[in-house]
Amino acid sequence: MQAATDRPINVDEYQQSARERLSKMAYDYYVSGAWDEITLHENRAAFDRATLTYRVLRDISSRDYSTRVLGRQIPWPLFIAPTAFHRLAHDDGEVATAKAAAAAGIPFTLSTMATRSIEEVADAASGPRWFQLYVYKDRQATRALVERAVNAGYEALVLTVDAQIWAHRERDVRNRFHLPAGLEARNLLAAGKADMPQKDQGSGLGAYVQSLFDPSLSWSDVEWLAGVSDLPVVIKGVVHPDDAVLAADHGAAAVVVSNHGGRQVDTAPATFEVLPRIADAAGDRLEILMDGGVRRGSDIVKALARGARAVGIGRAALWGLAVDGQAGVEHVIEILTDEFERVAALCGCRTVEEIGGDLLE
Ligand code: FNR
Ligand code: LAC
Repeated sequence: MQAATDRPINVDEYQQSARERLSKMAYDYYVSGAWDEITLHENRAAFDRATLTYRVLRDISSRDYSTRVLGRQIPWPLFIAPTAFHRLAHDDGEVATAKAAAAAGIPFTLSTMATRSIEEVADAASGPRWFQLYVYKDRQATRALVERAVNAGYEALVLTVDAQIWAHRERDVRNRFHLPAGLEARNLLAAGKADMPQKDQGSGLGAYVQSLFDPSLSWSDVEWLAGVSDLPVVIKGVVHPDDAVLAADHGAAAVVVSNHGGRQVDTAPATFEVLPRIADAAGDRLEILMDGGVRRGSDIVKALARGARAVGIGRAALWGLAVDGQAGVEHVIEILTDEFERVAALCGCRTVEEIGGDLLE
């Protein structure tokens, strides 16, 4: 564990420190966006453009920012978004990240493309856990993933719907991204789909997705999924209000307003920009979660002010993992929740309910 004296003090410093520790291939994979990375940068810039018109003299001595997400009371409106291949950052992998989330009492989302298994993470981390599902052409393998998540006590299925066709991450193409020896998409071992070797050219992950993910995924599959288990279904990767309404029509419990961290459709709108229209369209019928570009506690205040119930972090957790494993992720969560509480209080808000749209006018 790093000495407290020389630890990074914010998420950007964790990113800089992670870059010094990670291989070029791993850092490029984690940091990259699709094509010209316009959406990647817009996710961040949209938060920076928003101003907080704070209120004063509201007695902020007593504060409680707990909230309820997917049936769970959590101390902060924050969760760990699903990101693949944590063992590229630290050998404990998703077990470390999940244990850090559990220590903070916030939900952890395990990716289908994890390097530690559904069961390993469930055995190691006691907190609220969600399972993020990619739908394979092999529907039996897909169903088996869901059944394993149910049996291991995961509390929600997060169906990712914006990546059935692979986008182009040019850094991965140049680096011929692949999983080094000893690493695999561990959840797919039983299905014989765990390996991701280096290709003669291009991204090994891109080739994997193009060959194995099911591009026929449609709204009828949401109903199929709801029939496979009783877990609440969350639709992740929505940026259009009409799709949020369709998610509610098809029985989803929540949507994650997300553009995959700018890694799929480049020039997609920043999630922070489309969030209010989606909240207006469907916020009375399902829970509105969001992710994309969150690096400061003030971003969480702004997202809640625009209608999010909770906010996911992807890369920020990975930077903490790369620098100091579970302790690094715990510290990143601590930094973000401390910043969130200070900014919310300075805006005159003592609860999440008091964080309203008037702050952004
Ligand atoms: C992701 N994301 C992602 N999403 C998903 O549904 N399944 C996955 O396996 C992954 N894998 C993944 C890997 C890496 C390296 C990144 C950066 C992202 C997208 C992720 O869940 C989330 O939408 C974004 O990461 C949010 O943006 P920030 O917080 O990274 O800016
Ligand atoms: C990614 C996939 C694994 O964004 O979701 O890398």
